[in-house]
Amino acid sequence: MIKKIALISLFVFSVTGVFSQPKTLDQKVDSVLSLMTLQEKIGQLNQYTDDGAATGPVTVDDKKATQIRNGEVGSLLNCKGVERTRSWQEIAMESRMKIPLLFGQDVIHGYKTTFPIPLAESCSWDLKAIELAARVAATEASASGIQWTFAPMVDIARDPRWGRVMEGAGEDTYLGSLIAAAQVKGFQGNELSDVNSVMACAKHFAAYGAAIGGRDYNSVDISDHTLWQVYLPPFKAAVDAGVATFMTSFNTINGIPSTGNKYLLRDVLKGKWGFKGFVVSDWGSIGEMINHGVAKNGSDAALLAITAGCDMDMESRDYKNHLAQLVKDKKVPVSLIDDAVRRILRKKFELGLFDDPYRYCNAERQQKELFNPEHDKATRQVAEKSIVLLKNENNLLPLSKDVKTIAFIGPLVKSLKQNKGFWDVDVPGVDSTFIVSQWQGLKNKVGKHTKLLYAKGCDIEGDSKAGFAEAVAVAKKADVVILSIGEKRDMSGEAKSRSNIDIPGVQEELEKTLLATGKPVVVLINAGRPLVFNYTADHASAILYTWWLGNQAGNAIADVLFGDYNPSAKLTMTFPRSVGQIPIYYNHLNTGRPATSDKDKNYRSSYLDLSIYPKYEFGYGLSYTTFKYSNLKLSSKEMKPDSSIEVSATITNTGKYDGEEIVQLYLRDLVASLSRPVEELKDFKKIFLKAGESKTIHFTIDKDKLSFYNHDLQWVAEPGKFDLMIGASSRDIRLKDSFELAK
Ligand code: GLC
Repeated sequence: MIKKIALISLFVFSVTGVFSQPKTLDQKVDSVLSLMTLQEKIGQLNQYTDDGAATGPVTVDDKKATQIRNGEVGSLLNCKGVERTRSWQEIAMESRMKIPLLFGQDVIHGYKTTFPIPLAESCSWDLKAIELAARVAATEASASGIQWTFAPMVDIARDPRWGRVMEGAGEDTYLGSLIAAAQVKGFQGNELSDVNSVMACAKHFAAYGAAIGGRDYNSVDISDHTLWQVYLPPFKAAVDAGVATFMTSFNTINGIPSTGNKYLLRDVLKGKWGFKGFVVSDWGSIGEMINHGVAKNGSDAALLAITAGCDMDMESRDYKNHLAQLVKDKKVPVSLIDDAVRRILRKKFELGLFDDPYRYCNAERQQKELFNPEHDKATRQVAEKSIVLLKNENNLLPLSKDVKTIAFIGPLVKSLKQNKGFWDVDVPGVDSTFIVSQWQGLKNKVGKHTKLLYAKGCDIEGDSKAGFAEAVAVAKKADVVILSIGEKRDMSGEAKSRSNIDIPGVQEELEKTLLATGKPVVVLINAGRPLVFNYTADHASAILYTWWLGNQAGNAIADVLFGDYNPSAKLTMTFPRSVGQIPIYYNHLNTGRPATSDKDKNYRSSYLDLSIYPKYEFGYGLSYTTFKYSNLKLSSKEMKPDSSIEVSATITNTGKYDGEEIVQLYLRDLVASLSRPVEELKDFKKIFLKAGESKTIHFTIDKDKLSFYNHDLQWVAEPGKFDLMIGASSRDIRLKDSFELAK
């Protein structure tokens, strides 16, 4: 009888192919899952930081190797280099199931080759350049044992007091969504199986940039409409671009911590949006739900998070410590655990880690990619495109290459690491000598007939003016002064909110003494956020906002100073006149008593003591040339819901330098079921024009560009009149027309 059953089973299995190699990805995942114990499953949901490397509050744990060997850890972060990642992977291969570890790292704007900070890159409005930066970062990181970057950060931000504005793409949802997609494509390439690709991670889900007061980790209190209209679209763009992972945010939204927010993670992300990747918590954010007051202990926090749809626990240890008991107590069905494990295993298969756990641990490849000269060219190009020309009185810039003497003054002139900004990566075996300082960049640029003089002048912080005299003496010997001032790089970034966003210390006082010499002064402002610098704005001869530009900062700045690159960048965040103006952003509502000028103070939505306008508006940036906008044409003045309107305009380079212009198209929905912004960016074109050249550019207005989330959170376009504006910034509108959306 037994023999008969065995024969039948053999026949059945052979027909159904159960004994043959699993064919589909899901079959592979399920075949591994079916062999795992509950402890091993929970192990896949557990992520630790590498020893000695922390990007959050550290839990001392000297048993990580043992836990990995026991299959209790699925991923490590902050572990860099082929040697170190290989050593941990070898331990994982000693475990019963031999499931490979995932290695994650904050490769936010470059790995060994540091690119400009993301906020700077966003000012390029150059999606190909932004994608290139992410591609280079992925190539270098994946060559160093890393398969997963915790980027892009796609948090829309309207408050420059928040230090993490440096990490995102500014205040605009439309532009931020395009940039999110470009970064995901750059990091992930076409296939995760490509050894040069890394998994991207859309973070921080969600609305982290709306923290009250710009204070990091603070509460967020916004309407569902604002959540959907402003903060969610870049995350949806990342999903549509195929992002592999998401990270939850530390903050609450209307009282619910994102890490335990079932609506966000299951209903929206995994449900409505159909996201098939996995969600990692932010560092310790599961356990922090105790501080938020929604969990009384770690077990409660683990229950909340796993139920809400958070698949992996970064560094809180609450999954490791409590999930097994929660399953035993029937508070958590094992099916929830299995779903989370499947999502993670699927990515490990896609990355090829099951085929070869060491495929990212090739020392020769690491050496080749980390020292690839093409990467320096790439970061220099992206840096040039990220520099914003804010002022250029009497066309002082570009400097002539015949200039005799330049005084290069300021506390940031000779810095190396400052140029990297926050969220740079300290790569093992790589020092700062690969960074081109601003001083070195200028030396590389000028000929032997140009004399360079230097003085530090003052520190970034502190009130000492002891260096002023030397700086003035140096300035007096020069034909032109270049003054490089700003914040320190670690005055923006995580947990770096500032209540005062002036240029710190006595740097602007130094500037005042230099201006008193009568010499023309070009000011470079280095920062990770919009700063307040009214004195400089009103008195300097020329201003370049140089952000933090990365490894090739010096060369890129020199390229712009001497016109080898004509600056084309435009601001993606509003620059306030004072911290008292915050929050201030371009796509605001009109209010019932809009102030239409600074004279208009009578019962108006304005301050008694300040202009209604920001210092520099969204979309603002100058060029060494000028552009004329003309010949606006609409294919029709009326649009049917299922049709579109073709828009064209002519842009002419009316100056003497070739250059690029970012032509912006804004719409205004004049009457709708909700009050709508006075303008919204709906398209743009970055075009290159030779001196004297004209080009006609084209836009298509379709229903989607007219749509918004109505009160019931439906994405609708409502009939009525729309203003159409084409401009060089959100305030510098050059062409205007209107059209009607018919019923
Ligand atoms: C940090 C950051 C997050 C980062 C993570 C790992 O706290 O909030 O952006 O990816 O921890 O370093």
